[in-house]
Amino acid sequence: MRIIEPFRIKSVEPLRMTTREERREILERAHWNLFQVPARDILIDLLTDSGTGAMSSEQWAGIMRGDESYAGAESWFRFEERVTELTGFRHIIPTHQGRAAERILFACLGVAGRVVVSNTHFDTTRANVEFQGGKAVDIPTPGALEPSLEHPFKGNIDLERLEQHLADDDLDVACVIHTITNNSGGGQPASLANIRSASEICRRHGVPFYLDACRFAENAFFIQSREEGQADRSVEEISREVFSLADGATFSAKKDGLVNIGGFLASNDDRLAQQEEELLILTEGFPTYGGLAGRDLEAIAIGLREVVQEDYLRYRIASVRYLGEGLERVGMPIMRPPGGHAVYIDAGRFLPGVPAQRFPGHALACAFYLAGGIRSVEIGTLMFGGADPATGQERSAALELLRLAVPRRVYTKSHIDYVLDVAAEVAAGRGRIRGFEIVEQPVHLRHFTAKLRPCD
Ligand code: F0G
Repeated sequence: MRIIEPFRIKSVEPLRMTTREERREILERAHWNLFQVPARDILIDLLTDSGTGAMSSEQWAGIMRGDESYAGAESWFRFEERVTELTGFRHIIPTHQGRAAERILFACLGVAGRVVVSNTHFDTTRANVEFQGGKAVDIPTPGALEPSLEHPFKGNIDLERLEQHLADDDLDVACVIHTITNNSGGGQPASLANIRSASEICRRHGVPFYLDACRFAENAFFIQSREEGQADRSVEEISREVFSLADGATFSAKKDGLVNIGGFLASNDDRLAQQEEELLILTEGFPTYGGLAGRDLEAIAIGLREVVQEDYLRYRIASVRYLGEGLERVGMPIMRPPGGHAVYIDAGRFLPGVPAQRFPGHALACAFYLAGGIRSVEIGTLMFGGADPATGQERSAALELLRLAVPRRVYTKSHIDYVLDVAAEVAAGRGRIRGFEIVEQPVHLRHFTAKLRPCD
């Protein structure tokens, strides 16, 4: 049976069409950097799935119910009740988004001069570890970085290396953080067996085991559909078990919280939680709102109920897979299998004539925009390259990818079909796609503001 969007549309937001000539002028004005293009000039925005989803009528009703009391608001209790029911953690600390939870966690754990180990740290997670003087080490499962390798749980952490790292007396590991799903590794899930084993290894070595749980529901759905013995359990039940295996979690509600802003930090450690609350009060807000409005807490509480609904997840995962398989049909190699929230095109392979230092992922992003007003994001040498501070040598990323992230409940199948039509046009003209060079760039996070120009 055909899988359809399990909702109907009550409120619409018009999209603005532009011509190819207009888009060329817009890109030139933006110095060929899609982060600098105003959203009104984008037709289909696949830049991120974070904070870009559509809320339900229930969530909008919750917004009106939001209790804006400074302390002990009703909305806080409804938020706490749902987060506790789902995760079982003893302490729940609301934050304005995921990275605020990361900053507070690493500050209170004390990561200076220590190591944090992960399947793959998301950029902000790595940046927060490093900002506090720690070292972020990634140990994804072998094969995770081979785009064409087929594996149901490419988001797994490498258990052998985890054991080695924790047994190494020269490494002072502050915590292990398992990112589910693994965003930087292609939106790939981790299996329940892998999370169980990682938890057990951490417990044996007395090292706290955390989850970066932004996309926990998508991860749980993959467990339900792909892992032996899990098909008869509900996503809620699987999610609860996953959370029960951890000592705490960071959470950006902008993904599987189905809201536009919000997050939390959770922990079972009484002493740590007390320190975290103290820092929270200093920089985010009182512990019953943590930098959010009461209405935001209300919307998250409802979002966390809606996101585990299996009709929703079936449609969600199917729609991302539909995009991925469609791209492959027009000849674009992707990170296999398609992820939970995004499809990653292997731009390095698609444009073999464009070397890493000419940014093939970025060249492809510009081609998608010019051809159809679609915005996506390069994840490659433009994002992670730049001069090595020690040697001054230009570095390249391991892979040159283009991420097409799908906002939740926003675009219909015909929007995705349009993206695929545009992809076919881009693929037909691939021989004409040129690389880029940087004209001007800042020292840190250059992809956001760098000015570029097409090479001749
Ligand atoms: N962890 C993961 C795995 C993420 O994907 C993100 C955000 C964060 C933490 C930080 O959360 O944005 O609420 O502070 N990912 C977005 C993206 C920005 O586009 O993938 P935040």
